Amino acid sequence: MLTQLYPASGDSCALEGLYLDLNLHQQAKAGDVFIYANYISSLDGRIALYNADLGDYEVPTAIANGRDWRLYQELAGQADVMLTSARYFRQLAEGKAQDLLPVGSGEKYADIKTWREKQALKAQPDVMVLSNSLDIPLAALAKVQERKVIVLTASKDGQKIKQLEQVGVQVLQAEQVTGAFVRQSLLDLNYRSAYLIAGPQVHATMLKDDCVDALFLTTHFTLLGGSKISGLVDVDLPRAQVLTLISSYLDTAQNQMFQRFEYVNSV
Ligand SMILES: NC(=O)c1ccc[n+]([C@@H]2O[C@H](COP(=O)([O-])OP(=O)(O)OC[C@H]3O[C@@H](n4cnc5c(N)ncnc54)[C@H](OP(=O)(O)O)[C@@H]3O)[C@@H](O)[C@H]2O)c1
Repeated sequence: MLTQLYPASGDSCALEGLYLDLNLHQQAKAGDVFIYANYISSLDGRIALYNADLGDYEVPTAIANGRDWRLYQELAGQADVMLTSARYFRQLAEGKAQDLLPVGSGEKYADIKTWREKQALKAQPDVMVLSNSLDIPLAALAKVQERKVIVLTASKDGQKIKQLEQVGVQVLQAEQVTGAFVRQSLLDLNYRSAYLIAGPQVHATMLKDDCVDALFLTTHFTLLGGSKISGLVDVDLPRAQVLTLISSYLDTAQNQMFQRFEYVNSV
């Protein structure tokens, strides 16, 4: 059970359904799209640590856990499309990433699949990928082949674009992939809810143009330290981002807290 800390009530509630009941796919105003991000972080703000054995960054195993994963899945369940990075697909191809994208695979999450069906949402959210290198392994893309995949890029590499288009990927180009371009592309494709599951670069891209509406943050009560780390945002922002706390739940079963924020400046 969880304890509700904010709004302060002290009530207990179940983990399952905590986020699924939010109906994020219905939060956008007419003609708009609701964009929400989700991270699990340590107390010292790490969302990823460099793993020398892997030769790459990964979600720290000391904080990753099934209860947070349940909520990750509930958030995915409400998405028309998931916003991710090309690096995720590269990690997936090399076996360094979990198969994060499918919603509700496995018995534990079957209720989320059923929920999507009842809401008349597609079986799986579409996938929008940000990439300038266009180094997106086709083998990793094959894992989401039954879904619409859109790649946003500033690359003008005709050969790579053709290769992607040949496997059914829609490629949208801009001089620079800004948050405003991502948002406009989502609107042009009639998406109503977009779930940002990428790391700090994509998050920063969206924040620079005030294009994130909500942040779901799991804080695990662990200090990880480290010098090769990723936080929620790792680059300069044009201004400090102010957030309003909407809800907070204590999960003593896993020594963590689930918080939901709204971005004050979101467009
Ligand atoms: N703890 C958590 O909740 C959490 C959540 C998400 C991710 N992570 C971890 O954080 C680490 C980094 O994740 P990530 O790779 O998804 O991070 P990211 O820093 O958001 O994405 C990096 C890649 O995305 C593309 N990209 C980002 N912004 C772009 C822009 N404006 N225009 C064009 N392309 C852009 C680039 O691809 P190209 O190089 O192809 O140009 C870049 O290499 C991973 O280890 C991941 O596991 C943790």
